[in-house]
Amino acid sequence: MDILSINNLSKSFRQQQVLRDISFTVKQGEVIAVIGPSGSGKTTLLRCAAMLENADGGSIDLGGISVVESGKYADKASLKSARTKCGMVFQNFNLFPHMLVLDNIIDAPVHVLGIPRQEAVREALALLGKMEMQEYVNAYPCELSGGQQQRVAIARALALHPEILFFDEPTSALDPELTNGVLRVIRALAEEDMTMVIVTHEMDFAEKVADRIIFMADGMVVEDGPAAEVIHNPANERTKAFIAGLKSGF
Ligand SMILES: Nc1ncnc2c1ncn2[C@@H]1O[C@H](COP(=O)(O)OP(=O)(O)OP(=O)(O)O)[C@@H](O)[C@H]1O
Ligand SMILES: [Mg+2]
Repeated sequence: MDILSINNLSKSFRQQQVLRDISFTVKQGEVIAVIGPSGSGKTTLLRCAAMLENADGGSIDLGGISVVESGKYADKASLKSARTKCGMVFQNFNLFPHMLVLDNIIDAPVHVLGIPRQEAVREALALLGKMEMQEYVNAYPCELSGGQQQRVAIARALALHPEILFFDEPTSALDPELTNGVLRVIRALAEEDMTMVIVTHEMDFAEKVADRIIFMADGMVVEDGPAAEVIHNPANERTKAFIAGLKSGF
């Protein structure tokens, strides 16, 4: 079953076309890594898929709901229910700074989904355990390292029981040793068959965890294939050049 289906998606900012005719699907349980040079449209694509940004044209189906069809967005009620089916994890964590870790996690379940507070707390504690963060339940985000904040952000996204999780460079603001803790929890989610689309520059991680890699350039999907193939035997010259550049450290 497709959890996400994107067809002929386009998006411009003023005169600049940032997404051009993007099409791909994500099946339940699949992990997709999105790679590509800076400015190629990766963040914009994720933001459109997670309904944080409106596309100009094309279609998005998410969790069985038609979000946008030929550039026309669905009614408010459909968009609201599609929003609860996806979660987003940002490069800079975006936790609520004035709220304790626990309150960051239970806020949406209580206020958006209407889950009783006690039940939301129980689930938050379980999620924090899974993220190896249970001892920080009463800390403020500013008291945590970047890697710890990111693991809380992942717990917060999971608390809405999303059908798909989007990650935008979840480790690029982190030191290498903190990166590993975050990649470990994402890998554990993959092993539980969580459906995920992850923008990343961590190619070793992408190869181990992703089923497919999508390479974007100039707002287009240039290549979409099995992870090992895209990394070791890319079909397109631009993919080849990009991967070679990453390997040589540029
Ligand atoms: N809100 C915005 N207003 C105007 N232009 C924008 C906006 N957001 C993105 N852009 C432009 O769209 C293009 C694609 O940006 P995007 O952030 O999607 O790229 P990216 O692939 O995520 O890059 P990076 O690897 O640096 O994060 C860039 O040229 C950027 O300047
Ligand atoms: Mg980006």
